[in-house]
Amino acid sequence: MQSNLPTIAVVGATGLVGRTMLQVLDEHEFPIGKLRLLASARSAGSSMEFCGERYEVEELTENSFEGIDIALFSAGGAASKKYSPIAAAAGCVVVDNSSAWRMHSDVPLVVPEVNAGDLWNHHGIIANPNCSTIQLVVALKPIHEAFELKRVIVSTYQSVSGAGQKGVDHLTAEIEGREPEARISSHRIAFNTVFHSFTDDSGISEEEQKVRRETRRIMNLPDLPIAVTCVRVPILGGHGESVNIETIRPFTMDELRQVIENAEGIILQDEPKEDYYPTPHKAEDRDEVFVGRLRLDDTVENGAYLWVVADNLRKGAATNAVQIARKLLEMDCLGYSKLLTW
Ligand code: A2P
Repeated sequence: MQSNLPTIAVVGATGLVGRTMLQVLDEHEFPIGKLRLLASARSAGSSMEFCGERYEVEELTENSFEGIDIALFSAGGAASKKYSPIAAAAGCVVVDNSSAWRMHSDVPLVVPEVNAGDLWNHHGIIANPNCSTIQLVVALKPIHEAFELKRVIVSTYQSVSGAGQKGVDHLTAEIEGREPEARISSHRIAFNTVFHSFTDDSGISEEEQKVRRETRRIMNLPDLPIAVTCVRVPILGGHGESVNIETIRPFTMDELRQVIENAEGIILQDEPKEDYYPTPHKAEDRDEVFVGRLRLDDTVENGAYLWVVADNLRKGAATNAVQIARKLLEMDCLGYSKLLTW
């Protein structure tokens, strides 16, 4: 390996997203001088394979970040809150997959297809958005550019892997007729649909708040009317979203189709006669966002429906983080002028 290539750390390397990050780094042939794998004390001393070599997993501590250029964090909110500022102070740029920093005004919240330019404003910590938000804004961005969004209604159909290994274990145990060791919902998930947790008395779930706030922030549309319902469905991987849009400028369905077809990061799968549309199963292990079921909504002046699907562990988490890291290198903006006291 060459020494002029960056040193990359994956924090939470043993988790579902961490493991996917390693897979994406490998598949994307990300330039890596040295790789460090960090996780909790539970995993320290174990080893993981990357590009045919075995790497030891180290315990994440305050002294872990010396010499690391980019750290991809996916170790949960508590670890991110504690260790991201320590990493940034050590000169490392953090791309954080948790929700800890997403609404912090000094932390860019980035989906490269939508707002890569915001990376110029980073101060050592960059936030990776919520999985449902990422695939939504990739689909909304080209529509907004072409026809200007007036309002959005979105209902999500989210897999259990969005809640990490615990979510996968919960669903798997119930399908196999066992009591789960840990739960991501007080309700049964197998053969059921449930909602994410509620944090206040508004009746809006935390996930619904995230999608609304993060979409507005990433698209730089602080007043965008957006109504969100988030639903957890009993599938292991892949999120679907039913999206209803209304725009200021009129469009024909052919124009809408063309805009989506030409958009960065999107694959259009829309052949109703051939029963061809995106599904979470087909999106598995893919980095793109898939859009289909384009239909006119004639109940409003300029309206349409679409169905948006992505692999939540890939574009919804690991792929987006790796793409941010790649942009940082391409834009040569790893350094940051104003180191904040986090
Ligand atoms: P570990 O495997 O050692 O527990 P998932 O979201 O799939 O549950 O994965 C969570 C990831 O975050 C795992 O790699 C886990 O490591 C790691 N992790 C959780 N808490 C901490 C912590 N306090 N310090 C370091 N890593 C953590």
